[in-house]
Amino acid sequence: MKTEPTDTKKDDSLLYHPPKSIMRKANIKEYEQAYAKSIADREGYWAGEAKKLKWFRKWKEVLDDSNKPFYKWFTGGKINIVANAIDRHLETHRRNKLAMIWEGEPGDVKTMSYHALNREVSKFANVLKSMGVKKGEIVTIYMPQIPELPIAMLACAKIGAMHSVVYGGFSVEALAGRISDAHSRVLVTADGGWRRGKITDLKAIANEAMDRSPTIEVCITVKRTGQEVHMENDRDFWYSDLMALPIASPSCETEVTDAEDPLFILFTSGTTGKPKGLVHTHGGYTVYTSTTLRNVFDIKDEDRWWCAADPGWITGHSYLVYGPLINGATIVMYEGAPNHPYPNRWWSMIEKYGVSILYTSPTAIRGLMRFGEQWPKRHDLSSLRLLGSVGEPINPEAWRWYHEVIGRGECPIMDTWWQTETGGMMIAPLPITPLKPGSATKPQFGIEVGVVDENGEDVKAGEEGKLVIKGPWPGMARTIYGDADRYAETYWKEYEEQGWYKAGDSARIDEDGYIWIIGRIDDVIKVSGYRLGTAEVESALVSHPAVSEAAAIALPHEVKGNAIHTYVILKNGLVGDKKLEEELRKHVSDEMGPIARPETVAFLESLPKTRSGKIMRRVLKARAMGVDEGDLSTLED
Ligand code: WTA
Repeated sequence: MKTEPTDTKKDDSLLYHPPKSIMRKANIKEYEQAYAKSIADREGYWAGEAKKLKWFRKWKEVLDDSNKPFYKWFTGGKINIVANAIDRHLETHRRNKLAMIWEGEPGDVKTMSYHALNREVSKFANVLKSMGVKKGEIVTIYMPQIPELPIAMLACAKIGAMHSVVYGGFSVEALAGRISDAHSRVLVTADGGWRRGKITDLKAIANEAMDRSPTIEVCITVKRTGQEVHMENDRDFWYSDLMALPIASPSCETEVTDAEDPLFILFTSGTTGKPKGLVHTHGGYTVYTSTTLRNVFDIKDEDRWWCAADPGWITGHSYLVYGPLINGATIVMYEGAPNHPYPNRWWSMIEKYGVSILYTSPTAIRGLMRFGEQWPKRHDLSSLRLLGSVGEPINPEAWRWYHEVIGRGECPIMDTWWQTETGGMMIAPLPITPLKPGSATKPQFGIEVGVVDENGEDVKAGEEGKLVIKGPWPGMARTIYGDADRYAETYWKEYEEQGWYKAGDSARIDEDGYIWIIGRIDDVIKVSGYRLGTAEVESALVSHPAVSEAAAIALPHEVKGNAIHTYVILKNGLVGDKKLEEELRKHVSDEMGPIARPETVAFLESLPKTRSGKIMRRVLKARAMGVDEGDLSTLED
């Protein structure tokens, strides 16, 4: 049965009703009352969800708010995420169920049952132990999308070590900075990966980054491509060699960790300075990712779940690796580009593996939409039940294409709003929620959302305001690694009195209570759904010998959502030309990674600044877009 909009007068009232067949079988059958109940007794709600998991010892207190904003969840409880994501399935029918179906870009396929995944994870956990990896230590992982990436993450978690996954598309500077912030002693990488028919130079980049990182003692490299790479004596080991040694025994006890023990850090861009490492924990994160996935995406035992995000970002952590494995699902993972060798690669994989839920970004949808309907039309996509979107606002046109062409007009689109900091989905529909294209709809259970002004007053329906979360939730990041003050300052200071979390986004709530995310209100840029900071792009530019000062802004882009545009002041006497522009764009790409490559570099004599010397990016943006520059009273002459 096709879903039809019930009203086409104005966008806010355009409602798509999920098909009855989906609603009837949904894990959650009713929202309004259950939501009200979860807010009236949040701790009760979260305790109920936590009970569905395997604990070594039950918690004493659900929420400890004695040291705000450093909330603690399930204190006194003993748990390990791996005991939930793997161990407990081994005692059920899931032992022989597929945990993972992986396809490499060249077309090679690997599958792994939960039993096999446990063996690999346990073996690698023993390898890490033999390298002296201890509880609480941070292992940096820099890999392409190959099975060894989730295996390495799970192996760290299993022994109580923390992982810091650095996106495989990042370059030397970004990797070196993150290794040094984490004081990592061990790096896990690969000799390369496949992307658009080419081999990436992962190990060469890792080598250069390690030259700048004195803390590294051991580097373990997976042989993925077989290309020639430089291996340093006494530091570099092949993954396969280590896994063949007797120390890599397939039996390994899962470490008993405290609910509040850190599970990982993940670096993400903020308003100022260097990226910050957000810390997530074993207890709250396990509860939050598994519950939200079950509610929003209705995960069932027979589902084939494909989250097409890279594990190097939070979406990959929460919903490619942990959330689905805790729920005992079969995950699909793919190494390469969506349009390689042809733009039907994804659609052919959906057909081949019978994928029932696809979770991706609006940029990916817009990118594939450009190639036209004929590519998906070649494939039987009838296995799909639900579709998901994350990372940036989805424009109604892409929403409709996704719904109609990919979802045959039947699959509801779960537009999910959340952040690295939130650990999991915060605002998102359930499979029973009537949808409005472009709105992430309503808050998840236990989550109270507000759209407020400077004073914390709710703005009127339809008006823009700051998005806040009213109170803590189990999946929240606990701190910024090594910088607790910055954590308190960035997220909790502005609404300290009320105890609210400031998201850094602006939004509006319509008359039906539907939430519409507008975008970032700070200097974070979302390019193709990837999160970057203007400050990082600027510091990459300034590291070039010709550049004296730089500013970066985001301007709308048809496919990427936003693109980076930059302005530079050159050092004395230098003149900007096309050649230098190209050189600077390449320089940023070499330093940070291709996703940060600026669309344009413009040469200016001066940058608009406040009297205190802060660059007014807002003015640059207004000029570039030809709109009113707004209040200029703080502008220096
Ligand atoms: C943006 C990604 C609109 C938002 C999970 C947020 C979205 C930032 C949506 C976090 C959505 C994420 N609609 N905007 N459905 N989802 N965003 O940390 O600006 O990489 O603050 O986490 O992405 O990005 P992050």
